[in-house]
Amino acid sequence: MSMDWTPGSWRTKPIEQVPAYPDPLALAETEKRLSTFPPLVFAGEARKLMRGLGEVAEGRAFLLQGGDCAESFAEHGADNIRDFFRAFLQMAVVLTFAASSPVVKVGRIAGQFAKPRSNPDETRDGQTLPSYRGDIINGIEFDEASRIPNPERQEMAYRQSAATLNLLRAFAQGGYANLENVHTWMLGFLADSPQAARYRQLADRISETMHFMRAIGINAESHPSLRETDFFTSHEALLLGYEEALTRVDSTSGDWYATSGHMIWIGDRTRQENNAHVEFCRGIRNPIGLKCGPSLEPDGLIRLIDKLNPDNIPGRLTLIARFGHEKVEAHLPKLIRAVQKEGRKVVWSCDPMHGNTITLNGYKTRPFDRILAEVQSFFDVHHAEGTHAGGIHVEMTGKDVTECTGGTRAVSAEDLSDRYHTHCDPRLNATQALELAFLVAELLKKDRESVPARKAVNF
Ligand code: PEP
Ligand code: CO
Repeated sequence: MSMDWTPGSWRTKPIEQVPAYPDPLALAETEKRLSTFPPLVFAGEARKLMRGLGEVAEGRAFLLQGGDCAESFAEHGADNIRDFFRAFLQMAVVLTFAASSPVVKVGRIAGQFAKPRSNPDETRDGQTLPSYRGDIINGIEFDEASRIPNPERQEMAYRQSAATLNLLRAFAQGGYANLENVHTWMLGFLADSPQAARYRQLADRISETMHFMRAIGINAESHPSLRETDFFTSHEALLLGYEEALTRVDSTSGDWYATSGHMIWIGDRTRQENNAHVEFCRGIRNPIGLKCGPSLEPDGLIRLIDKLNPDNIPGRLTLIARFGHEKVEAHLPKLIRAVQKEGRKVVWSCDPMHGNTITLNGYKTRPFDRILAEVQSFFDVHHAEGTHAGGIHVEMTGKDVTECTGGTRAVSAEDLSDRYHTHCDPRLNATQALELAFLVAELLKKDRESVPARKAVNF
């Protein structure tokens, strides 16, 4: 890190996606208060995630990252968090067991509140108002008062993140994630789907293995890794005043860490190399994600890597490719080749959501077959280049929503209006998420069989 970085040095750079707060003094006061609040996550945890992602970068593990497009203040119930966590655990167990690969688990949760927007304004029935930018900034209701950015929302987001994280820690470490519960993670509405049958079979095999291990003296009481899991949080570092207020020096290393979440990422709209978001992220030591859309060229990517991971630390930087299902072939190989040629250690992950959004019957949606097609192309390209398809990044929920079309329990264009609840982009429902996990597990298994030299190690 160069010496001229401070948690506030981003303020001197050009910046995109800034909300128009009407009262800068009130904003400054909120940021000041936030800077006195306890950290949400700890530097040691971020370092542990970095080690896990380092294994992914070396081709020995897989990254599963997922959650809401935007968390909402209205949907902050325990059931919501539990159902997400269950669906996510199911995906993780499918990937771990079916592909025999360690899985690094990172939620888009406990801080995923700020949204970049393509248009600063929204017009409905002749009325134009500022766009909704996520609950941490303004309200989703289409009226003038809600759409005014309000700094008090940052404190609400902080407190909701703390409560969400508290429950997630309990689920991950307190017994819920015990592999002996593998059957109970099945969500009720999934029960009659083909995915459920596949999942039940897999869960039976896991239970059988657990019985065998118990018989030879290895059990969940004596082996914490069977009853606990490491679950990390992440969000887009869009609202930099909030991020700065939660950036703290780690007393053991003397380094700066963002304590708003374990991993933060830079969005596709804010990744300009000389701008504020890159400036902020280059100085903190957390694992960083970088969204890579079709406008990113190899030279620009290498310059961004120079800034964001100058020491070439494996696990520090995750490149999240999000091109659209028909554009992967045209964009991904040239980026991979540039990274390989320069010898840069990165995690390659695939976001099959953000390049595949269309509008149907007035709803923003994503056809499930295009999501699968983007993941398939991502794996195909990595296979051809001899590199590791390291992860997926998805927008998903544990609920039975109708937001993305398709899947084996086909959601049609007409069904979209039934249970369309997202605050921003359309998410996979739990059935679609599980279906995707089975597909990825097959691709990963093939990939691992073709590269037998990569052996998993504990991290
Ligand atoms: C997102 O992940 O919600 C997002 C806005 O992605 P991107 O920056 O890739 O468009
Ligand atoms: Co989104």
